[in-house]
Parts: sequence; C-alpha cells; structure tokens
Amino acid sequence: MKKNILIIPGDGIGQEVTTWGKQVLEAIAEKFGHEFEFDEALMGHVAIEATGNPLPDETLAKAKASDAILFGAIGHAKYDNDPSAKVRPEQGLLKIRKELGLYANLRPILLFDELLDASSLKPEILKGTDILFFRELTGDVYFGEKYRKEDNSFASDLMNYNRYEVERIAHKAYEAARTRGKKLCSVDKANVLETSRLWRDVVQEIAKQYPDVETEHMFIDNAAMQLVKNPKKFDVVLTANLFGDILTDEASQIAGSMGMLASASIGDGTGFFEPIHGSAHDIAGQNKANPLASILSAALLLDISFGLQEEAKVVTDAVDQALKAGWRTIDIANANTASDKILGTNEMGAEVLKLIK
Ligand code: IPM
Ligand code: MN
Repeated sequence: MKKNILIIPGDGIGQEVTTWGKQVLEAIAEKFGHEFEFDEALMGHVAIEATGNPLPDETLAKAKASDAILFGAIGHAKYDNDPSAKVRPEQGLLKIRKELGLYANLRPILLFDELLDASSLKPEILKGTDILFFRELTGDVYFGEKYRKEDNSFASDLMNYNRYEVERIAHKAYEAARTRGKKLCSVDKANVLETSRLWRDVVQEIAKQYPDVETEHMFIDNAAMQLVKNPKKFDVVLTANLFGDILTDEASQIAGSMGMLASASIGDGTGFFEPIHGSAHDIAGQNKANPLASILSAALLLDISFGLQEEAKVVTDAVDQALKAGWRTIDIANANTASDKILGTNEMGAEVLKLIK
C-alpha cells in the first residue's frame, strides 16, 4: 500500500513523542511491505514563531493533500498567562479541525491490565472497562461567536448546534456501538441548555434506526460522577465538543495516564490522529514524556485511515508487551511496584520499536 502521511509535531513534547509515532509507522511499512511517504509541517506556537500564523497556508495545503495526519500537541504557557493574546497556538488546531471537516473525535479508553495499579482508582473498579468516546469536534461553544467588551466588563461565547451536526456524529457513534457492546450513552445538559435539548431530540430520533443498540441519556454532571464510580457501565459515549473534552481527560485516569490515550478525528476527508495530552512544556525536551499515546495514535491511523487492522494490532500488541516487560515512563510508574523499570521517552520508544521489528 502506498500512502502519504503528514507529520505535524506541534509544540512542547509534541516534537519528541511524534518522532516515535513516525518511527513506528516506518517500521510497520518495512515489515509489511508498504510505502509510506512522510512530509512535515508546522502548527501552533512553533508556526506562530516562524510565520506569525498558527496554521500556515502551506500546512493546510499539505494536510489536505495527505492521506492521513499524525499530530503531536499544541500550546505554550506564554499564552496561558496572557489571556488577551489575539493570536494563539490552539487556533491552529481548531482551524485545521474545521477546514478538514473532522467532526467526529474518537477517544478509546484502552485499558492495559498491566497499568491497573497506575491509576488513582481501585483496580477492581477499573478492570474490564472498555469505553469509546465520540466527541463532536467542529461545533458547540468552541466555534460560536466570541465577544469581549472593550472595557473588559463582559465577555460571551455562543454555544450552538445545527441539527445536521448532531445527526452525523450520532450515526457514526451508533454504527460503532453496533460493532461493540451495543450500548450508547448520550451525554448532555438537557435540563438547562437549549443546545442539549436539540441534541437529545436528534439522538432520540436517530436511536429508532438502531433498535439493536440500547440508548441511555445522561446529564454531564452525573456522567462525570458515574465515570469514576462505575466506568464498566459505559460502552459508547456520545457527547458534544466541550463536554467531551472534559470527560475524556477525566477518563484518561482510568487508563492510568493522559500519556496513554490516543485519538482519531475523522469526518469528510483526511483523518487526523493525535494523543489527547497537551504540550506539557514543564517536561518538554527532558526525555520524560510518554511516547505511547503517539504510538497508539499511529495504530489508530493504520486501522481507521488505511484499514490496516493487522498492522494496527502489531503496534498495540508491542505496547502491551513493553508494559508486560515492566517498562514504564514516569507518568505510569507506580512507586509500590518494585518490578517497574522507568524509562525515558526515547528508551520507551526504542523498546516498542524492537518489539515491532
Ligand atoms: C484537546 C485539547 C484541545 C481541545 C485544545 C488544545 C484546543 O484540549 O484536543 O482535547 O480543547 O479540543
Ligand atoms: Mn482536551
């Protein structure tokens, strides 16, 4: 198979983790006789520094022309402390999601048994958890009109949804539920928000087309609680952009660390694959970041964009074996587990690579 893959390392630890996602893709190409051609582009703070634009035209053009994109992370502390900055790294990510029509963000909560004790939650609560989040990604309060009064006495972000935006992601989530545990939980705040009432109406309607899937509606506050109380009760979770952003960070603790979670953003065209973690500038450049989320994002890319299920499984199995061998980056180490062997980013990446080859 011949494919073009665009690598967008982005900011902070994005650079050092994405290099391992890329090397894994190269190793898979070699092992299975595929031809993957790689190109690289700037986005985020690094792009602002180089061009003044968080998503340069060149990056967008390359993205549109590629068969799949592997992305690292975005953001810089500099902007967090300057809320009035007009040009911000995150704008690059939001714009590329919109431009590529990446309306469905799939975030699997993949639980490796070896990491049951890396979580702050009790192993018996976690064991057997398998959740697939469908987070809507190109609507909601993220993209509504923003306003700030000049004297800084008032600000507003408009939350809105079109019916078609809810419909298309609901179909994707139901189709996935059919191939899994046949349960779908739609999370909203329909007791308060009009957008959520529309969301619930649409999901109820679409549910009729999937009578084999059991549908439940849950308020976001309750869902946040249920997720740590009894995560096993969830199969597919369908939710809006902001709720999904928050719930999946919470859910990452089920898997032990943000450093373990990969995501796939899909829609009309090119798929976009990225860890759910951020740029973590506090540890950037120190060989401390966990490369497994990027490596698992590469596995999702192979599976979802290229339909290479066997190749994807080789990657997830290699991660599993590395964890079984006791290899840990600092974020998934457990002080009480004597057999844990702590590695840096590069050493962990190299271990997984060895297991693939
Ligand atoms: C994520 C991130 C982004 C989001 C930020 C960086 C804009 O937190 O992908 O979850 O909120 O969508
Ligand atoms: Mn997030």
